[in-house]
Amino acid sequence: MHRLTNRQILLGITGGIAAYKSAELTRLLKKAGADVRVVMTPAATEFITPLTLQALSGHPVHLQLLDPEAEAGMGHIELARWADHILIAPASADFIARCAAGMGNDLLTTLCLASDAQISLAPAMNQAMWRDSHTQANIEALRVAGFNIWGPDAGEQACGDTGPGRMLEPTDLAERLAAEFDYLALSGKTVFITAGPTREPLDPVRFISNHSSGKMGYALAQAAVDAGAKVKLISGPVNLMPPERVDCVQIETAEQMLAASMEGLESCDLFIGAAAVADYRPVAIAEHKIKKGNEEIMELRLVKNPDIIATVAKHTHRPFTVGFAAETRDLIHYARDKLTRKNLDLVIANDVSVPGIGFNSNENQVTLVTADKATTLPQTSKRLLAKQLIDQIALQLKSKQA
Ligand code: PMT
Repeated sequence: MHRLTNRQILLGITGGIAAYKSAELTRLLKKAGADVRVVMTPAATEFITPLTLQALSGHPVHLQLLDPEAEAGMGHIELARWADHILIAPASADFIARCAAGMGNDLLTTLCLASDAQISLAPAMNQAMWRDSHTQANIEALRVAGFNIWGPDAGEQACGDTGPGRMLEPTDLAERLAAEFDYLALSGKTVFITAGPTREPLDPVRFISNHSSGKMGYALAQAAVDAGAKVKLISGPVNLMPPERVDCVQIETAEQMLAASMEGLESCDLFIGAAAVADYRPVAIAEHKIKKGNEEIMELRLVKNPDIIATVAKHTHRPFTVGFAAETRDLIHYARDKLTRKNLDLVIANDVSVPGIGFNSNENQVTLVTADKATTLPQTSKRLLAKQLIDQIALQLKSKQA
């Protein structure tokens, strides 16, 4: 089921008594980490309410093709593109017939036409309707067109008949769906990543900060999502768009970054601190803009900020914890010092005195430092480096958990 983490599943529900089982199916898919959007045909709403599916999926249910309100949110073409997989469960004889005929006379059939995603159908109907030669011809046509046909099961039916036509159980459907996706290096893992600088305000218009652009942290977030993880990106102020499928929490100060890092930490498997956190903040924030006085020298009083990554590494539900070290000399020595002092599993050290790498550059060169090893990776783009780092970290995480 871990393969469903972060997958975007469009669940279509058509009119049939088995529609009640789609509530449990939605719950299972959500529990496995999938993002589920539900589309119901008008007949489906006679068997189960959209409100139930909305509560379980966490999103409004899509009901009509020509709905101005829904189109203003996520339009039907956008929804078709959004889906990694379309699962229609239950798929009624009528829906199967319309789909096989290539019709687009409601939202669900239109989505099937408009999407490039794999489509799977879980037929459910009376046994005689299933055996009917039209239905069998339609199913065969859809199979040839590349649709997965999952089920139906045989047994006692709601109408009193016995025979083939029962929808497969939700657990069976969820397992079949999971098997459609590859198992990736971080499938099923929840990853928190801090990125960018923090800003420590002096007054309403001034702050202390640094040159971190967030590029390293955002590249890591993208690589972690690509590796199958569910990612929370805790970001200081940067000029970057968060990667898709990432839950991005925007913060300004170190204290806010700490609070966002601790929230939900129990479910976090891997924490990566790529942010450049201000070590100190002003003791007090002036209520009004500080005016220029006559003095030539102005002194600021600063107080130590909490150490976010060290706090995470002390937590009872401690995730695998990876820090960065931005150094200008004695790279390995200082990185190893951070490794032990902050109780980290791995430190990724970058020499920020080297031009073209580190802060606000598109490339980086890093050394992976553990208690007994230091491995330097060649200089490359932050995007490619992030992929290599995530692969390395996933291996270390796996061997630690084993
Ligand atoms: O954002 P970019 O422009 O792409 O640049 C990337 C980067 C250079 C910022 C990044 O690669 C990097 O090195 N980040 C850490 C920078 C840093 O400030 O390191 P540090 O030596 O101060 O801190 C060591 C570790 O403790 C880091 O994981 C840091 O996130 C963490 N820390 C530090 C202080 C603090 N109060 N809380 C923390 O969690």
